[in-house]
Amino acid sequence: MTETFFINITHKLSEYSDQIDSFVRKLDSEKEFFNLTAERIMRCKLVIIALNKSEIIGITALEKKYGFVRSLTMVKKDYQGSGFGTRFKSNLLSEAKEKKYNIIMAVLDENNIKSLRHNFATGYRIGGKRGNLFYMWNPLNTKGLFLYYLIKTLFPIMKVVDLVRR
Ligand SMILES: CC(C)(COP(=O)(O)OP(=O)(O)OC[C@H]1O[C@@H](n2cnc3c(N)ncnc32)[C@H](O)[C@@H]1OP(=O)(O)O)[C@@H](O)C(=O)NCCC(=O)NCCS
Repeated sequence: MTETFFINITHKLSEYSDQIDSFVRKLDSEKEFFNLTAERIMRCKLVIIALNKSEIIGITALEKKYGFVRSLTMVKKDYQGSGFGTRFKSNLLSEAKEKKYNIIMAVLDENNIKSLRHNFATGYRIGGKRGNLFYMWNPLNTKGLFLYYLIKTLFPIMKVVDLVRR
């Protein structure tokens, strides 16, 4: 683990595309609740990789969706469960603060217990649940905290809209 380090590759994604592709292709049980694709990583606005020697062992990233900034994190199973994901995600969140983002969203399957615990450990709070998905939010400043309470209040309205749409 001592040889592990993090690199922000946002501005050189094409340079790393083969390595990203190979990382994603080798994923197995890690994809149980979250089917990450290389194409999705290549579209992200901020991408940090964890390298052990020259091998990618984790990717954490921010993508923009419907005007929200959403985090994605994938750590190879041999490196999970020892606090590694938390250190890795904290690195992403520090960069997000530097970029002046107010709030970060994560969308998680209700059965993805590891990831739910990991997100609580890195400051995310539950905003609401739709179907089998938890919508979690990490306010990075006072404005983010205000937005979090607003989203939490409005969330039940989204559920009513879902009901009407059916
Ligand atoms: C989510 C993920 C990044 C967490 O990485 P990690 O290195 O295992 O995380 P950490 O070791 O820092 O642990 C963080 C929390 O998760 C908990 N955790 C880790 N492995 C666990 C397991 N097998 N069962 C239950 N909880 C677990 C830890 O106990 C810790 O919680 P705590 O602070 O309450 O003790 C990693 O499990 C992963 O890549 N999962 C597959 C991809 C995925 O589902 N991503 C989520 C969608 S964005």
